[in-house]
Amino acid sequence: MSADTREQADAPAAARMEDVVSLCARRGYIFQSGEIYGGINGFWDYGPLGVELKNNVKAFWWQRMVREREDVEGLDSAIITHPRTWEASGHVAHFSDPMVDCRACKKRFRADQLDDAPKCTKSKDGSHDLTEPRDFNLMLSTQIGAHADAATTAYLRAETCGSIFTDFRRVREVARQKIPFGMAQIGKAFRNEINPRNFTFRSREFEQAEMEFFCHPDSTDEWFEHWSSVRLDFHRDLGFSEANLRTRPHGPDELAHYCKRAIDIEFLFPFGWQEIEGIHDRGSYDLTQHTEFSGKELAVTDEQTKERFVPAVVETSVGIDRTSLALLCAAYAEEPLEGGESRTVMRLSPRIAPIKAAILPLSKKLSEPARRLAADLRKRWNVFYDDAGNIGRRYRRMDEAGTPFCVTYDFDSETDQQVTVRERDAMTQERIPLEGVVAYLRERLGEEA
Ligand code: GAP
Repeated sequence: MSADTREQADAPAAARMEDVVSLCARRGYIFQSGEIYGGINGFWDYGPLGVELKNNVKAFWWQRMVREREDVEGLDSAIITHPRTWEASGHVAHFSDPMVDCRACKKRFRADQLDDAPKCTKSKDGSHDLTEPRDFNLMLSTQIGAHADAATTAYLRAETCGSIFTDFRRVREVARQKIPFGMAQIGKAFRNEINPRNFTFRSREFEQAEMEFFCHPDSTDEWFEHWSSVRLDFHRDLGFSEANLRTRPHGPDELAHYCKRAIDIEFLFPFGWQEIEGIHDRGSYDLTQHTEFSGKELAVTDEQTKERFVPAVVETSVGIDRTSLALLCAAYAEEPLEGGESRTVMRLSPRIAPIKAAILPLSKKLSEPARRLAADLRKRWNVFYDDAGNIGRRYRRMDEAGTPFCVTYDFDSETDQQVTVRERDAMTQERIPLEGVVAYLRERLGEEA
């Protein structure tokens, strides 16, 4: 795991964190889990817009990392697996953060994040009376079966890749893959973070998309460069600008226990530069450990040279929640409009926008043909239908949802079989034939004909 004490940069002018958080709750992108009971710290729910956004990010990752590659296989493993997995991986012994307690206010903090800690509420000058730091293991545990004792303790995975290593041999055989090849999966991970913070940025339950690339130990550097560049391109293609993206190598004191070398891909959040993805050289650590703990041979033989070796691993590990949050921060804009009004607009790239098009009849009397158009478009995309309120207000709602195109069906459409398409960012309007709407959207959403 990487430390997140980073150089604090100037916040991007457009987005302030509180504006993004408020829009997310107001429009139902993301809100606290268990809200009606006062919420639960470090857990978040994604509403109708949030789940579409997240699904689009995951689908794009899967497309790029699995479907478009001959050398990567997919996996969907159980969240809870054999507890020995986490002993072998070193998580039971080493996956911890330094924790301190304040003897006065009884609050707990991460010892390496004290600069950001709130002041003590019990002391006169606000300073804490801290205990010595001690290691706090971040793995969340549970009990399996009817008996609750040490023998039934299992862990909710702290990284999704655990089962990629334990399933390595079977998947390589069934997929008839040779080294080098990768295994990828998307799924939930859990960490009992001491101080969840910055909205979804540091949560206790989150999603990761991870790919473990098994290669000959001599070719690790080459693959590390390859995957670093592939992963940076992915973020560019999601719509991040160069000004908001950078890579940062880890110093030796930051490296996770399984890691020989690492770089973070960072995004400029309103609260500073922070990691959204890690690229890690895990060496032969994982397969060696699992060989030792399971007694199962995980080495491979090079068919040509007959060399027998334990494959090394280059890992790419991106947080889906962090990436979604970064996309929301990057997209957020407030703009003045003519007549002294203003609008909030989410400039999400059409590829990941939750709703691709909204169908807005000018009058409820036109609902029948407008609904027909919406139903037709829904066969391909997530399309929203709205016939309530004035058209300006409906546009504003779609701007906040990041919908790139609004299609207005008016009384003339009945006779000329044309509709007006309004583009979100430039707010330009274009009259196009009804029968050309699918082709129009396809072209602008970047889809092949
Ligand atoms: N398998 C390697 C691994 O888990 P990591 O740097 O600890 O590496 C990878 O995590 C990514 O997972 C991070 O870049 C981040 O996007 C996401 N992540 C990690 N901890 C998180 C948390 N508490 N809340 C949200 N996302 C988190």
